[in-house]
Amino acid sequence: MKKLLGRLMRRLVVAITGASGAIFGVRLLRLLRAQGGIETHLVVSKAAALTLSAECGLSPADVAALADHTHASGNIGAPISSGSFRTDGMIVAPCSIRTASAIATGVTDGLVSRAADVMLKERRLLLLAIRETPLHAGHLERLATLARLGAIIFPPVPGFYGRPETLEEMVDHSCMRMLDQFGIHTDVAPRWGEADGIVAFGAREAGA
Ligand SMILES: Cc1cc2nc3c(=O)[nH]c(=O)nc-3n(C[C@H](O)[C@H](O)[C@H](O)COP(=O)(O)O)c2cc1C
Repeated sequence: MKKLLGRLMRRLVVAITGASGAIFGVRLLRLLRAQGGIETHLVVSKAAALTLSAECGLSPADVAALADHTHASGNIGAPISSGSFRTDGMIVAPCSIRTASAIATGVTDGLVSRAADVMLKERRLLLLAIRETPLHAGHLERLATLARLGAIIFPPVPGFYGRPETLEEMVDHSCMRMLDQFGIHTDVAPRWGEADGIVAFGAREAGA
């Protein structure tokens, strides 16, 4: 029966790498858990353990508690290392230039880059929340390669039309837009031109 019904839950891989902005990966995991019906597979790179601690005061174990499954970044034998393990895609947030370069060149020496390469070869969604500035020509060339291979290049650049007042509001807006790419609509930030968005703008205008 299980075989006939197949998989009902959606599955998403979330990787957190050592670029600044560890909060994006953490917030995505929280939003996915709140959404329900989505099985999350987490990979945290060694460098991300450092940024998670420095930026969020969190340990890899704290973050693992937010995911359904956690795989060590060196575990190349994890399920997500194979295309035969079905997933609906992968988000790398934040994505370092080092990891982006590994994916662009196909040098998949760890689980994050291998799982990302699987997404590309299986024609699944791969979103890279690249965080670096400024960017030199080598960075841009690798990002162009990744875009040609089918990756969604998604620098977490905030939108200001919702008049965010806190860091959390800015992060939520970017995370909502990332999940939109996967058809997961969280509506945790105002949307331009949509009724809820206009109400939110109006409420803030009134000092709410
Ligand atoms: C505090 C801190 C912030 C960093 N921020 C960035 C960044 O924004 N973008 C980036 O590409 N690398 C950044 N790095 C460097 C990466 O952590 C480093 O290149 C690392 O090797 C990435 O490894 P990973 O891709 O396996 O996580 C930062 C490092 C530290 C310690």
